[in-house]
Amino acid sequence: MAEMAQEFPQAQIYGIDTDAPASHIQFSSQCHFNNNDILKGLPYHENTFHFVHQRLLVGGIPTSQWPFILHELVRVTRPGGWIELLETGNIYHHAGPATAQLRAWWDEGMTIHGFDLSSVPTINRLLTNHGLINVHMEKIQVPLGAWAGRAGELLGIDIFAVFKSLKGVYVNKLGIQPELFDEVVAHLPKEWECHHTTYEFYSTFGQKP
Ligand SMILES: C[S@@+](CC[C@H](N)C(=O)[O-])C[C@H]1O[C@@H](n2cnc3c(N)ncnc32)[C@H](O)[C@@H]1O
Repeated sequence: MAEMAQEFPQAQIYGIDTDAPASHIQFSSQCHFNNNDILKGLPYHENTFHFVHQRLLVGGIPTSQWPFILHELVRVTRPGGWIELLETGNIYHHAGPATAQLRAWWDEGMTIHGFDLSSVPTINRLLTNHGLINVHMEKIQVPLGAWAGRAGELLGIDIFAVFKSLKGVYVNKLGIQPELFDEVVAHLPKEWECHHTTYEFYSTFGQKP
């Protein structure tokens, strides 16, 4: 929100998250943040926004809820307005054995919890199915690790933290030995440097007729 406000000083920007924003983020008066759960619907009227953006919510939206979320995003967009989603799936390129193992555990563990990421690479179809026009999707290979400079280093830190945080799920639900989990996770950073691993992101947008 803060970056959008800088780039578009005339815009009124509304944002939601179930968590409060990080305390170091300064919002200007054109930003309006609400603690809201998107799974309960968006707290805005129909046809309100010229541009609606959602980023990195695949981990918070069970697969069965995506049609409802799209319905909400379309509902609050004005005719002629645009919706943009930036999401990730579960596809790594040049993955080494530790990354492949964690990916397999993710598929097994998170699918049990209703999060199946296999349909994210075709998320553009969801936009088309909800009546949007001029739908376009771009796959972006984002590097993991310091071999690719600062962006890769930051994503590496992020994804490493995500994998580590899933230990409880894999140990308790899949019966993975805690020592084995720790060992596999510990291999990730070196492996990403050695294989030049990338993680696939999906930028997709469409227009409300
Ligand atoms: C990976 S972070 C992305 C944060 C932000 N969208 C961005 O791109 O910088 C995922 C965010 O989704 C939020 N989230 C998860 N489930 C949610 C829900 N049901 N409704 C609203 N926000 C949710 C989390 O609190 C977390 O801040």
